[in-house]
Order: sequence, then structure tokens, then C-alpha cells
Amino acid sequence: MKIGIACDHGAYEAKEAIKELLSQQGHEVTDYGTHSTASCDYPDFAYACAKSVSEGENERGIVICGTGIGVSITANKVKGIRCALCSEPTSARLTREHNDSNVLAMGQRTCGIEVMKDIVNTWINTEYSHDERHQRRIDKITKIEQA
Ligand code: RB5
Repeated sequence: MKIGIACDHGAYEAKEAIKELLSQQGHEVTDYGTHSTASCDYPDFAYACAKSVSEGENERGIVICGTGIGVSITANKVKGIRCALCSEPTSARLTREHNDSNVLAMGQRTCGIEVMKDIVNTWINTEYSHDERHQRRIDKITKIEQA
């Protein structure tokens, strides 16, 4: 799968660990930065990653900051993005099954890296259910976005 990944200075270590995990699994990972722990602005990187998913360059995106909140707010401003902020694997499974989320957000200050790896594995490997009730709700979100 083609996956974009991005972080700010508060999550550089997590981004590197998750990039390695996904690459080892054979995924094609594109890194949208940041590339160090030097202070930076999370919208710059989260936007680049979310845009790549919106424009079809990547099937999914993963954005990480200190809490996951700033990057999730940013990603959800991009057309066609359904970004889910997760801190445990159950939410990661349900957001794939119910929301067909295409971007995953996490926080390095609020979630350990081993838990984040479990979240990523669950989120990447769970298919959307395509249930009528879930599709109806996603369609309503899309209409709100288009209004
Ligand atoms: C950076 O200090 C911090 O604000 C950022 O990583 C994130 O937590 C924002 O939501």
C-alpha cells in the first residue's frame, strides 16, 4: 500500500519507528517531514501528507504530533479526508470499519510507541465494512464538506 507519513518535532521518533515498521512490511512509505526534532509548525507537514491522500498519491496517511490533535484538525480541513485520532487499537479498527478513515492521527506525548505500532497495524489491516448505514453516514459528512 502507498502510505504518506508526517509529524512535527514532538513526534519525530514515533514517525521514524512507524516508517520503519511499515517499510519492513513492504509498504511504500513517503515521508512528508519533519526530519528532525527542531521546533516546527505541525500544519505544514500534516497538510502535505493529507493533500497527498486527497489527490490520490497515497491511499492512506499517518500524521503524528505531541497530542495528535493539531495534525488531526489540520488533516480534516483537506477535502476528502476523514482523519481519526486514535490512542488505542479498538478505535483504529472501528474507524476503519465504520468511518472508512483515510488518515490516522496519533500523539507521541499521549501514547507509547509500542501502542502506536499496534494502532498502525490494526488501522492498516482493517477493511471498511461497506455497510449501508455506515456509507449513508459518510455520505452525509461528504455533503457537509461540499456545502
Ligand atoms: C507542539 O508543541 C505541540 O503543540 C504539537 O505537537 C501538538 O501537540 C499540537 O496539537
